[in-house]
Amino acid sequence: MNPSLWRVKSIALLIVVVVVSIIGCAQIRELTYPEDFTYLEKKEVEALMQRMGQSIGKLDQLVAKASPSDASQQQKIIAELNKVEGFATRLSGGHTQTNQFVISDHIEGFISDIGTAKMFANLNPPRYDKIAYVTSGCEGCHQFQ
Ligand code: HEC
Repeated sequence: MNPSLWRVKSIALLIVVVVVSIIGCAQIRELTYPEDFTYLEKKEVEALMQRMGQSIGKLDQLVAKASPSDASQQQKIIAELNKVEGFATRLSGGHTQTNQFVISDHIEGFISDIGTAKMFANLNPPRYDKIAYVTSGCEGCHQFQ
């Protein structure tokens, strides 16, 4: 074969290989990182878990001392439940699929338990018994680790 023709053919082949692999990679990226995917660093997960732990400690104390007629205790308890809900929502990647599979699989149920606990804490007089579901939700998910 004519050497320059051979060169043109190999350059053409090289271009085809590069283009095909770029398209291939783009497709694989789309499969592994759909739009509603959030990457959560392990460090971030640990920090959020620790902050939820602090909130649960505070909630336990507040609930132990609370009398149903104490409106300021009620507001503190609701505020703490809001914090836990905020941390849990961040752990859910804002309700998206994340790389933290155990968390992704179980966090929505946990968030809905927090919602229920908040609803009952908001009653007049408040009911704090649903907060126990939130606390046991921590252990419930940790057993899948
Ligand atoms: C939906 C699942 C899930 C729920 C709910 C959950 N956790 Fe976790 N938790 C995990 C996983 C998974 C890890 C391990 C994270 C890692 O180190 O990669 C973890 C780790 C932790 C850690 C260790 C963090 C560190 O520094 O290594 C603490 C503390 C913790 N969780 C507290 C809590 C508390 C308190 C609650 C309830 C308010 C809770 N978790 C609810 C899944 C969950």
